[in-house]
Formats: sequence, C-alpha cells, structure tokens
Amino acid sequence: MIYKANKFILDNKHKVNPRFRLNFHLMGEYGWINDPNGLIEYNGYYHAFFQYNPYDSVWGNIHWGHAVSKDLVNWDHLPIALAPDLPYDKDGCFSGSAIEKDGKLYLVYTGNSFIEINKEQKKRTQCICIAISDDGINFHKYNGNPVISTEHIPAESSKTDFRDPKVFKRRDKYCMIIGSNDGHNQGQLLLYESTDMLSWHYKGIMAKGDEFTGDNWECPDYFELDGRDILIVSCENKDESQKNTSAIYMVGKFDYEKCTFESNESHLVDYGFDFYAPQTFLDSKNRRIIMGWMHSWETLTPTQSEGHNWAGALTFPREVKLESNSLVFKPVDEIINFRQNEYVIENMLIDREYCLATNGDCYELEVVFDIGKATEVGIKLRTGEIEETKLSYTAIDNIFCFSRRKSGAGPGGEKIIKIQPINNQIHIRALVDKCSVEVFINNGKYVMSGLIFPKEDSTGIKVYSKGESFIKHLKKWDIITKNPISMIPI
Ligand code: FRU
Repeated sequence: MIYKANKFILDNKHKVNPRFRLNFHLMGEYGWINDPNGLIEYNGYYHAFFQYNPYDSVWGNIHWGHAVSKDLVNWDHLPIALAPDLPYDKDGCFSGSAIEKDGKLYLVYTGNSFIEINKEQKKRTQCICIAISDDGINFHKYNGNPVISTEHIPAESSKTDFRDPKVFKRRDKYCMIIGSNDGHNQGQLLLYESTDMLSWHYKGIMAKGDEFTGDNWECPDYFELDGRDILIVSCENKDESQKNTSAIYMVGKFDYEKCTFESNESHLVDYGFDFYAPQTFLDSKNRRIIMGWMHSWETLTPTQSEGHNWAGALTFPREVKLESNSLVFKPVDEIINFRQNEYVIENMLIDREYCLATNGDCYELEVVFDIGKATEVGIKLRTGEIEETKLSYTAIDNIFCFSRRKSGAGPGGEKIIKIQPINNQIHIRALVDKCSVEVFINNGKYVMSGLIFPKEDSTGIKVYSKGESFIKHLKKWDIITKNPISMIPI
C-alpha cells in the first residue's frame, strides 16, 4: 500500500493546481492532510509526519505522510511512512507521536478499524500501535501490535474514542498520554507507562474536562516549561452551539505518582479560524516548538471545491515560552534568514487610510501602532478592488478582530479577542503565505490563524487609523524559499 500511494503521488502531482499553494509551510504533495504527527528532531533533521490522504483532497484512507527539514522553513517530502494495511489499522493510521530509543525512531500511532457487527452495524475500535525505523525513512510495524488493544482500555473510558498517543520519557520510564472521554460527553486523558516502549501498563486518568471543554479530547500533548507543567488538548464540540473544535492549553501541576494534573484555567492556543490538533517537540537547541493543523473540520476550502487536488497545511513552527502563567508563541527565528526586500516605515502619524508602496502574497510584516487618541487602528492585507483581509483594534472595547468578510472566495467571518495594549501600543506580526495568514499579537500573547482565498492580484497592503495614531515602525519582508524536493523513490 505504501508503494501504491507513493506511485499515485508521483503520477498525479502534476495535477495539483499551484494557485493557492503555500511557499513556506508544509503541505502534502497531493491530496489532503490533517494533524501533525510524530514531530521530532532525529539524526540532524526535523521530521514532521502528518495525517494524509494521498489520493484525494478530502479526509479518508488515512496514511502517515512524512517530510524533513533542516531549517523548519523548507520541507522536503519523503516516502509515505505508514499505510493502513493491517487488520488493526485497516481503516486509518490515525494520529500519534514519535520518540527516539537506542538510535531508532519509534512511531506510536492509533490503529483505527471498523468491525462489522451485522449487515447494518459496524463498531469502531481504536488501539495503540508501534512502527520502528533504523534510518528514519522506512518503518516496519511491530509484530506485537497492537501494544494497547481494545480489551485493555479501562472500564471508565470510552472504547471507541481512544487515540492520539503522545509519548515522552520521564526518568527511566516511557509515558504515554491518550485522548478519550468518559462515555458521558466529557473529555479525559489516560496515562500509561512502559520500560521498553512495547509493553504498557495503565496508570489512571490523568486529567478530565468539564462542560466547557468539549465532549471528547484528542491529540493530547504534555511538556514541562520553566518548572511548570503544560497540557494541551484538542476538544471536540467545544462550543455546543457551533459544534466546533478547538485546541486549549492548561498551565498547572502534574503529579506523576498520583496521576493527577491540577490547573485552574484553560486558554485557546490560537484564536483564529483554522488551527487544530497541535503537537510540540523539544529540539536540540532546547526550544519547545509547536505546529498545528491549519485548516478546520468545519469548512470546505476552494482548493477542495474547485478541484485543486490538495487541502490542508501545517502552521509555521512556533516557539513556545511561558510568561507570567500564560504561553506566548513566536515564529521560529529561522524565518529571519529568508527575509528579502525590506520595506520600512518609521514614525509616521496617520489619521486615515494609506496604501503602502509595497505589496505581495508571501511575506512577513511587523507593525507597532501607538494608539494615541484613535478609536480604531488596523492593517489590511491582500487588498484588491473589493477584497481585503482586515486586522483591526478598537480602543473603546479593546477588541482585536481578524476579519475575512471581504477576503475573497472561501469561508468568511470574523474572529475577535479582547486584548490589553502594551503602553498604549498594539504590536502585530503577520506571516502571509498565499492562502494563509498567521497573526501574532502583542509579542505572541495571542495568535490567530486563518485561511483566505483572494484573487491573485489582490496583493495590496493598507494601514488605517480612525482619529490620530502613530506608526512607530512598520517592516515588511518578502519570504523567499526554494521549491520542495520530492524524495519518493521511483
Ligand atoms: C484530530 C483527529 C484525531 C485523529 C485524526 C484522524 O483532528 O480527529 O483525533 O487521530 O484526526 O485523522
């Protein structure tokens, strides 16, 4: 099945419409991608695996796609790592993580399969499986799979939602956190441990959600940062009215022996439209890096509806830091090496709308507004005759808004958050890459990501102010990268 999928990609990738393809973000060579999986630095390369349907631009037939990078900016495609080709994973190699053990790369993933009960009914089962590689390219599934099967799921947990293992090492033990729910519409995480990565023992329920955190927890992540414990989970149906999915983080205290995680509050990881199932890893520079899936379950994009033969991308990698009990996110510094054609404005008083003498569809932009007495300040990206993607701040209610009402084709709407200016200033840093916009507000205290599908010639950039404000500085750089190389053997 791996051979068949690789061959299909090679034979069909010329049919991918390049129109909205991103330049410095990871996508599949053809077809659909969702969650990042198995993020790890191994043998000198950053590896990113991802949920992958190589055959179509919609979810289904889930494999693990694979790409590598030296700089977290340019990604090259490797052959598919896992295909759903065994009874226990025949209906999908679902999400999971990676770890290095004795020089080998271990992938820990979810085997998804449907068992027929009778002609009308099928039962979904999920189990935990392992695949191992000596070279980081070719993986063989462990013949003792599954390492945690349905029979070993404890009674206090759902049997049908049991997925997305995240492994990490703690002292001499391997630990695994699995996303699930309690069977009564509340998300929960199960903790398992092992000494050899192959036989796993259940330790207990490590964390449980409430009525505000969805009815099932997916793609858990756990890490320590500056002595605090951080838990990230992706919540299904978080907002009952909208049936949407969102990723949240909690800063708290993890008591491993008692198997408890205590935390008083949760926050969204990203306040935008298109961000889910993030995963983190620690790199050799000791940075905690997070990448999410930049798309959403709820929407259909023009690349899907108009036959572009691809959908979904991963976010640009973000470095995670802790600042007074909250996480802050910033694009990894490697992006700086790809900046070209610097455009700068300094100390400019504004009281209306200005069109900048620069434009583009693939760039990084940074602007600091001194709000002064203005009631609203903002920046408009990808502007055209009637199109614009607006990032605005209104002083009266402290609302920051990412509006794609006039962004062009595809889903529209607005996302808002209440923020606090810093010394009466608003800092905005935006990564714009063809059909994606990632906005880092006030030095990464809030992030908003969203996909937009403007016309090709909507490349203008405008700044505006209602009432007088002051642009302390505005900088913009084109981001120039190389085309990805495909390393799929013919
Ligand atoms: C999250 C998710 C995971 C699952 C995968 C399937 O987006 O639903 O829980 O493993 O996608 O592709």
